[in-house]
Amino acid sequence: MSLITVSNVSRLFEDAKRGKPVVALEDVNIEVARNEFLCLLGPSGCGKSTLLNMIAGFDHPSSGTVCVGGHDVQAPGADRGVVFQQANLMPWLPVWENVAFHLKMRGAPRKDRRERAQRFIDMVGLTGFENHFPSELSGGMNQRVGIARALLMNPEVILMDEPFGALDEQTKMDMHAELIRIWRESRSTIVFVTHGIDEALALGTHVAVMSARPGRIRELLPIDLDRPRDPTSPRFNDYKRHILSLLRPEAANPMAQAA
Ligand SMILES: Nc1ncnc2c1ncn2[C@@H]1O[C@H](COP(=O)(O)OP(=O)(O)O)[C@@H](O)[C@H]1O
Ligand SMILES: [Mg+2]
Repeated sequence: MSLITVSNVSRLFEDAKRGKPVVALEDVNIEVARNEFLCLLGPSGCGKSTLLNMIAGFDHPSSGTVCVGGHDVQAPGADRGVVFQQANLMPWLPVWENVAFHLKMRGAPRKDRRERAQRFIDMVGLTGFENHFPSELSGGMNQRVGIARALLMNPEVILMDEPFGALDEQTKMDMHAELIRIWRESRSTIVFVTHGIDEALALGTHVAVMSARPGRIRELLPIDLDRPRDPTSPRFNDYKRHILSLLRPEAANPMAQAA
C-alpha cells in the first residue's frame, strides 16, 4: 500500500480581479510508496507548492482526497516534516535550539532537547556549529539546520519545497549528495519540489513531470540510474531529453518546426 495517495485532486483559487477562479491543479493522481524519493517537477506557477501544501496539511483540495499513512490529511502533523525554500530559523536562537525548536514547544527539558538535537546536527554535517547563530552560517548551512529540524520529529515523510533554490551550483551539488545520504540513513520518504530538471534527475527515485495551467501530472517517471548520478552520462541525458519534450513539446522537434 502506498504511504501517500493523492486521488483526483483539484484546487481552485478565487480570483476577484479576473472574475473567474484560477485552476491551480486539475485531477491530480499520485501514489508514493514508503522510502521513495519523489520529485515534483514543473514550471513556476504549475501548482507544485499547492500540491505539497495539501500533503503537508496547510491547504485543502477543492475536490478529491489526500491520504498519508491511510488517513485523510486534515491538518499539519508530526508525521510530516516540512523544509521550505528559506530555512525560516529563529535568528536569536543558536543552531541546536533551532533544531530542537518543536521539542521546546512541547515543553521538553533543556537537557533532552540538547541531546536529541545533537544526533541530527551530526547527521546533517554541522558538528561543531551547535552554538553558532544563523547569521554566522552560510545559506547552505542554514538549510541543513532546517533539514535537521524537520528530521528531529522523526517524520515518516519529509516535504521539501525548492529547499536549495537560493544556493550556488557547487553548494547545491554538495547538498544533493548530503540529502541522499540522509534519506538513506533516516529511511524516510521524501517529496521534493523543484523546477530544475537536473536537480530532479540527481535526486529522485521517481520524477512527476507537471504541466502548467491547469497543473496536471503529465508523466510519472521511475528513474533507473545508479548513484551517485552522473549528469554527463548518456542515460541521464536520455531522461533529460524526454522530460524536456514533456515540458516543452513545441521545442522537442526543432527541425519539424522550422519546416
Ligand atoms: N493563496 C492563493 N490564492 C490565489 N491563487 C493562488 C494561491 N496560491 C497559489 N495560487 C495560484 O495557483 C497557481 C499555482 O501556484 P503554486 O502552487 O505556488 O505554483 P508553483 O509552486 O508551481 O510555482 C498559481 O497560478 C498561483 O497564482
Ligand atoms: Mg512554489
